Amino acid sequence: MLQSTRDLAELRQRLLPRLSFRTPAAAGPPAAVLVCTSMGCLAAKSEAVIAALKEEVAALGLDVTVHETGCLGLCKFGPAALVYPGQVLYLGLDPDAVRKIAREHLRDGRLVAEHLFRDPETGAAIAQLPNIPFFRRQLRAVLAQVGVIDPGSLEDYIAAGGYAAFATVLGWQPEAVVAAVSRAGLRGRGGAGFPTGRKWAAAAAQPAKRKYIVCNADEGDPGAFMDRSIIEGTPHAVLEGMLIAGYAVGAQEGIVYVRAEYPLAVKRLETAIRQARRAGLLGKNLLGSDFSFDVEICHGAGAFVCGEETALLASVMGRRGESRPRPPYPVEEGLWGEPTVLNNVETLANVPLIIRKGPEWFAGIGTEKSKGTKIFSLAGSINITGLIEVPMGVSLREIVFGLGYGPPAGRELKAVQTGGPSGGFLPARHLDTPVDYESLKELGTIMGSGGMIVLDEASCMVDVARFYTAFGQDESCGRCTPCRVGTKRMVELLDRITGGTATVADLELLEKLAEDVKDASLCGLGQTVPNPVLSSLRFFRDEYLAHVKERRCPAGRCRKLLH
Ligand SMILES: Cc1cc2nc3c(=O)[nH]c(=O)nc-3n(C[C@H](O)[C@H](O)[C@H](O)COP(=O)(O)O)c2cc1C
Ligand code: SF4
Ligand code: FES
Repeated sequence: MLQSTRDLAELRQRLLPRLSFRTPAAAGPPAAVLVCTSMGCLAAKSEAVIAALKEEVAALGLDVTVHETGCLGLCKFGPAALVYPGQVLYLGLDPDAVRKIAREHLRDGRLVAEHLFRDPETGAAIAQLPNIPFFRRQLRAVLAQVGVIDPGSLEDYIAAGGYAAFATVLGWQPEAVVAAVSRAGLRGRGGAGFPTGRKWAAAAAQPAKRKYIVCNADEGDPGAFMDRSIIEGTPHAVLEGMLIAGYAVGAQEGIVYVRAEYPLAVKRLETAIRQARRAGLLGKNLLGSDFSFDVEICHGAGAFVCGEETALLASVMGRRGESRPRPPYPVEEGLWGEPTVLNNVETLANVPLIIRKGPEWFAGIGTEKSKGTKIFSLAGSINITGLIEVPMGVSLREIVFGLGYGPPAGRELKAVQTGGPSGGFLPARHLDTPVDYESLKELGTIMGSGGMIVLDEASCMVDVARFYTAFGQDESCGRCTPCRVGTKRMVELLDRITGGTATVADLELLEKLAEDVKDASLCGLGQTVPNPVLSSLRFFRDEYLAHVKERRCPAGRCRKLLH
């Protein structure tokens, strides 16, 4: 049990050797293998890989330890493993492959070429993770420890500098913590991009005795897995962010609202909470201070609207997940009527870094109004699908072609969808757009929480817009008419367009209706459901017109229009 910040610092010193050979500079014979056991690799049977590797290492009598780690981002090629020192990345593993790696690499010091990363363009094998363009072009800050530490080990996290930021802020006035987060320029990563410092300042100014910190880990966007990966890869960073938030605003209770479909994230959080409590990093009078804080998990049932803050809070309180009008905002009246700070997982995971490395470091990354890095999940028609972290302001082209190697051979990029179901499409000619909150908004889409889907010419924009509108309609909580009825009528109109029975007047009606639903809906769900329709009308109106006037689907997807 840690009694003081000094105890924590001493413990870190004692634990440092466990990471010494996992640093980029370390050299020497193989000493450890870290195998990804996040959801993607688990689905590709990485548990069997770990078991086989441990067995073989023991049978060969090697002095090599085997650990679990979080998602390295190349999930498509999983199961993945890293050999230290040297950060040699192996992909596409199975039990036979790791037995071979144990014999040839761990024992004999020879690389096993067939499981190394291959450059999709040149076919060349690249052994060391830092040399792979997919990683070299990233700036992994929130994800820096993923692939280095075992998410199930508090000792690893502490050795990597974990909880030092929390210990630091205990020596500050709470206002100084809020000021640091404001100076850093951190904006919410859950979609709206609201300045985190301003939210915390508003909560701190409330006179209430009871306050809450709620971590939004609902992640309802189809195809997005940034928040899940952060929790699976570095759960203690999220807890540390919550502790710092709690200290800054005067809250003693934290809740992580996580969807029940994320069993591994839930398990890793449960373990992390248990470990932190046992170590005296959650509970009463933390590190000998007056500050007490504890965290509980609340399981969400997986409704998209429950990611919206007021619906989320209703759900935590056991009510139906329905949005309510704001004000009052949650920072004024949230859980059980008390001031509540609601932050996204990635937002909170950035906080310890800001304290540890300084607000100026953070503010030095990104653009004038969008600071720091952002994690995206890349999906769709792209050579490398996966998870990436880049500085804000990099171009879409860099993400799609520099990191993701663009669409598979023979396919042309048509559009990139940012912001998940609430976002919009950007055509290929806007690939040089910097990815930041303002630039995307100007073009009619949003950053959202970081889902990014690449579409090629085989996609029909009307059909894709229909898919997302139907998703939004399905997920509407039904409380207000513009969203409940308006989205239904929108789907009907889109059905007529893709079915070849719509007129130009229907198209005009669709556009008008989309504007009305956007303007008149009560919460962010209804306000953003029309985005896919509006942005595809903006950039791909010709496709709509071809459907309506010529009864033709240029992409050849709409079956009723195929003659
Ligand atoms: C329909 C809808 C779904 C949302 N889903 C999420 C979500 O899954 N995760 C999240 O952090 N924010 C989500 N948000 C945004 C939250 O309402 C809220 O703005 C955010 O959690 C605040 O945290 P931040 O300031 O750290 O971004 C959603 C909003 C809407 C309208
Ligand atoms: S906009 Fe949609 S999801 Fe939001 S309150 Fe209205 S009906 Fe519910
Ligand atoms: S889940 Fe293993 S690399 Fe992503």
